[in-house]
Amino acid sequence: MAYRIALVSGKGGSGKSTATAGLAQAFCAQGLRVLCVDCDIGLRSLDLLLGFPGDIVFSWADVLRGNCTLEQALRTRDTISLLPAPLATMEKPDGEAYFALLRRVSSDYDIVLLDAPAGFSVGFALAAAPADLALVVAQAEPVALRSAAVCVRDLHEAYPTLKVRLLLNRLHKKRVQNGINLNIDDAIDSVGAQLIGIIPEDEAVPAMLGKGKPLPDYARAAGAFARTARRVGGESLPLRID
Ligand SMILES: Nc1ncnc2c1ncn2[C@@H]1O[C@H](COP(=O)(O)OP(=O)(O)OP(=O)(O)O)[C@@H](O)[C@H]1O
Ligand SMILES: [Mg+2]
Repeated sequence: MAYRIALVSGKGGSGKSTATAGLAQAFCAQGLRVLCVDCDIGLRSLDLLLGFPGDIVFSWADVLRGNCTLEQALRTRDTISLLPAPLATMEKPDGEAYFALLRRVSSDYDIVLLDAPAGFSVGFALAAAPADLALVVAQAEPVALRSAAVCVRDLHEAYPTLKVRLLLNRLHKKRVQNGINLNIDDAIDSVGAQLIGIIPEDEAVPAMLGKGKPLPDYARAAGAFARTARRVGGESLPLRID
């Protein structure tokens, strides 16, 4: 059975979809079979970030409605598979049918990454409820960290057995020095979750992932995603701002 990781946040734009794509690339480089599930109903973005052609017709919602088979909705490019979210808003899907679909598709993969929408809408539960691990993605700024703390608290309340970790994104040494970004210890204290990774602010993210291209190995963010993926796998590596 695949290890399922939800990427969640309180605040929008924290980098959940970016981290999903970056971690997918990192796990693939480890030789693992990776499936990404876009849970951002109506506002999906993983198909673009992962560089899938613009001819996607079906989503997991179509599989649930019987409009297509799982094979028709599931897309694979290079070594990463994607189950796209519907592009239109929809009524709350049948939870049991959705979880059964996830169980069925998960058996072919080692890692399943579930990219949630911002906040605590239906898509949040679609990502968090089936997960083994939730990564709360946040920038190290007071407003973002407060919403990350709320997210951590809600996750613990709703899913008491779920492992919850903080993934700091867009860290910038200079911004820490001049007080715009909180330092790492203060960020961890304010969120109340163990830190599992620090992804630096890196122009390669919009320049490459933003255009559907993989991050080059030399990009600082690529190294940081690779180390985060290894920590998820249980390795103990020092945490640093690149
Ligand atoms: N480490 C980074 N360095 C530079 N830019 C980044 C980084 N992480 C994310 N970004 C940029 O921040 C923006 C938002 O990222 P992304 O779409 O991944 O956030 P999100 O949390 O998925 O947003 P939403 O809540 O809308 O789903 C994008 O333009 C992305 O390129
Ligand atoms: Mg997103």
